[in-house]
Amino acid sequence: MAHKLVFSHNIASFIPFLLVFHFIPVVVSQFPYGYSQLSYRFYDWSCPRLTNMVKYGVWAAYRNDTRIAASLLRLHFHDCFVNGCDGSVLLDDTDDMTGEKNALPNRNSVRGFEVIDNIKEDVERFCPSTVSCVDILTLAAREAVVLAGGPSWPVMLGRRDGVTASQRAANEQLPSPFEPLGNITAKFTSKGLDLKDVVVLSGAHTIGFAQCFTFKNRLFNF
Ligand code: HEM
Ligand SMILES: *[C@@H]1O[C@H](CO)[C@@H](O)[C@H](O)[C@H]1NC(C)=O
Ligand SMILES: *[C@@H]1O[C@H](CO)[C@@H](O)[C@H](O)[C@H]1NC(C)=O
Repeated sequence: MAHKLVFSHNIASFIPFLLVFHFIPVVVSQFPYGYSQLSYRFYDWSCPRLTNMVKYGVWAAYRNDTRIAASLLRLHFHDCFVNGCDGSVLLDDTDDMTGEKNALPNRNSVRGFEVIDNIKEDVERFCPSTVSCVDILTLAAREAVVLAGGPSWPVMLGRRDGVTASQRAANEQLPSPFEPLGNITAKFTSKGLDLKDVVVLSGAHTIGFAQCFTFKNRLFNF
């Protein structure tokens, strides 16, 4: 009787292991080909010089036009704030898709597309069909801020480029200079960010330009 109890106790303690070993292969195989986690070393083997290529491309653009640092940072923000960091802000409109480029906060306002295009062209030469445009944009924003004298931050890689974009989503989700603070913070919290993030990220406006119509009502209307 005593033996029997010990025996069944041991079987019970094996059940979690049996579950783990039987289920992991099943779970993994349910993700489509190409699924992977973001990682700092994502392109270490497939495109080891990626960071240097991005650094060079941003440096060349910055040497010609220092404002580009601000523009690349904002492009990254506008990409990530609408349906995540998927490069969707880079997509041109097509016959059956009206994308983010011409949404109100972007039209005649976001810039830096040629910088990303040029870097992508370079990267394709050395590492064809390997690096996503959104990873290039994400790295470029970091390099731009560093060049402008700001902080650096580690960037995980392995994002996939989206194949669609929505002008309506961009109009609805991006913060506007004409809405009250409560609306802006609500937009950030809906993305999993908090009030501190609103303040810290707004510090991005330390650099860059804004058209007069976006702030003149705050200068003369108090
Ligand atoms: C908090 C809500 C925000 C509002 C209402 C807002 C609004 C604006 C507006 C109206 C402009 C000027 C656009 C133009 O005149 O063409 C601007 C520029 C800019 N924004 Fe924001 N923004 C916000 C958050 C952010 C965040 C989170 C970042 C990045 C982390 C950012 C980065 C920039 C940069 C760098 C510029 C200058 C771009 C350039 O010179 O090309 N903004 N923003
Ligand atoms: C240099 O900067 C200006 C904007 O200030 C831009 O119009 C031009 O295309 C840039 N030239 C190069 C080679 O990047
Ligand atoms: C602020 O948000 C509320 C609730 O979503 C909305 O009804 C209102 O129009 C917004 N105000 C502005 C100025 O966008």
